[in-house]
This record gives sequence, C-alpha cells and structure tokens, in this order.
Amino acid sequence: MPRVVVAGSLNMDLIVRTPRRPATGETVLGDDFRALPGGKGLNQAIAAARMGAETHMAGRVGDDDFGRQLLALLDQDRIDRSRVAVTPGIATGVAVITLAAGDNAIIVASGANMRLQPEDVDGLPLAPGDICLGQLEVPLETTATAFRRARDAGARTLLNAAPACALPRTLLELVDILVVNEVELAALSGHDLGEDSATADIAAAARPLVENERMVIITLGSRGALAVNRTGLDAVPGHRVSAVVDTTGAGDCFVGVLAAALVADASAKLALAQANAAAALSVQRPGAAPSMPTAAELRQSGLCAD
Ligand code: RIB
Repeated sequence: MPRVVVAGSLNMDLIVRTPRRPATGETVLGDDFRALPGGKGLNQAIAAARMGAETHMAGRVGDDDFGRQLLALLDQDRIDRSRVAVTPGIATGVAVITLAAGDNAIIVASGANMRLQPEDVDGLPLAPGDICLGQLEVPLETTATAFRRARDAGARTLLNAAPACALPRTLLELVDILVVNEVELAALSGHDLGEDSATADIAAAARPLVENERMVIITLGSRGALAVNRTGLDAVPGHRVSAVVDTTGAGDCFVGVLAAALVADASAKLALAQANAAAALSVQRPGAAPSMPTAAELRQSGLCAD
C-alpha cells in the first residue's frame, strides 16, 4: 500500500482561550487552558493516518513528558515512529496558542524540532506511489534532503509552506505539490493578498509558482480551496460551519487528508473535496491533532459525496 511519509515537527500546544489578546505590557484574565498534541508534522501525520493511509513519521522530541505524550499519540494512531528520535538535553517543541473569537495566534518554541538533521531523513522508506510531506518547522536542509530522497525513489513531494518564510529556490524545485494559505502565498509571491482577496488575484499570484508539473493549492478557510496547475484551475467551495470551536490545525487536516487521498489514487478534484470537508469537521473540535476526523466520520458527515 502506498505510504504517506511525514518529515516534520511535533509540538505540545499550550492553549488559552481568551476574550481578547493583551496589548504590550497588559495582563488579561483568560478562560480555560489545555495542553493538547500539535505541531504541523504531527497534525498532518495524524490526519493522514485517520483516513486509513499507512503513515510514517520522522521527527525529534525531547526526553520529557511532552515528548512521551506525543510518542504515545503516534502509537495510538498506528503511525510508524521508528524515525522519531528522543533528543536528550533539549525540550520537546511547544506552541503557545491564544484563541480569541474563534481564531488563533501562535508562537512556537521549536526545541527538538530544529535538531532534525538531514541524516535523520536520509533513509526514509519511500517508493513510487508514496508521498513525502514536509512543512517549515524543521531545518529547511532536512526537508530538502527528505524530498531529494523521495524524488530519487520515484515518490511525490508535498510541501506545506507554513509558517510563512522565504523559500530557497533549491527547495521549491523539489516540490510537486505546494499547499499554502493566502498569507503564505503572499510571502512566496510578493503579491499583496489577504483573507478577502479575490480568487482571480490569488490565482494570478499562484501561477508563477506553477512550474513543470507542480500543482499549487491555496486553502482559503471558510471560502474553500483553489488548485492551480498547468492546465487551469479547480475550486472547491467552503462548507458552512455553525459552531467554529478552534481553527488550529485546520490547514494541517487539509494537507494530511489530501495526501492520504492522493496515495489512495483519488483524482486531484476528489482529494481536494475530501481535504476541504475534513478541515470543516476539524474546526468544530478543540485542539489540532485531536481534532482530525476519521474516514468514517468524514463519510458520515455527508460533506463529501464520494
Ligand atoms: O498548524 C497548527 C500548528 O502550528 C499547531 O499545532 C502548533 O503546534 C503549530 O505548529
């Protein structure tokens, strides 16, 4: 069975819900606090695994309680973690997240994630039909090494270029499928884009990134998603969600489900629709990794016809 192979971050998310965020020098009293598993790499691996994809992960955690909890979650979701190393002397990655008015603001203390070395991903199990997934929360050279290994093995590469940062051309050249939101697309394209930008402007910003056979997918939150490739444009509309609980990890849900659908040989259009529907389910639950739906939940939701 083709695999989803993730080289990426694992964090413990420290989440505070608050009526509003403090200004500099101010203290506000927030509401509830939770520590829940997250990190873009872990979230995407869980999302793919819950869709039924054979999923492997490479990453690093510290030798601490948070690290042990994240490893336990990988086991629970039957993700091969033989390449997730425990790194002594450094903390597991942590994300400090404030949730205000349904939306999040995140600061990541990378900890062990930034110790993920090219050697850690050099021997990843990759073969034709597999997809290697990367994000930008581990050293860029490590992601590039994983993608080179994927290309050599005849597997596809999918980069979720998040969080937004300048991307070296040498890494971009190794990417078959690029997934970004409007903010990340603005950073990569130099176009001035925001949440309300017109679809035509978003597609125009994405087009120069469509090189060779690369597909560029832009997640648009409640507006759905757009896929731009050499032959044109596909769009899936957003789903109306009555109660948004927590948007953290919705983009990761999209990416993991997309990868799972593509390795299961779904068409790009169906993969996009499934990813979009799963992301709409994830925002109705708290946390990032725990909010990823299963394939059965996605089917039962009726949000995605096939
Ligand atoms: O994409 C959401 C994730 O970003 C959170 O889980 C947090 O850990 C940060 O990595």
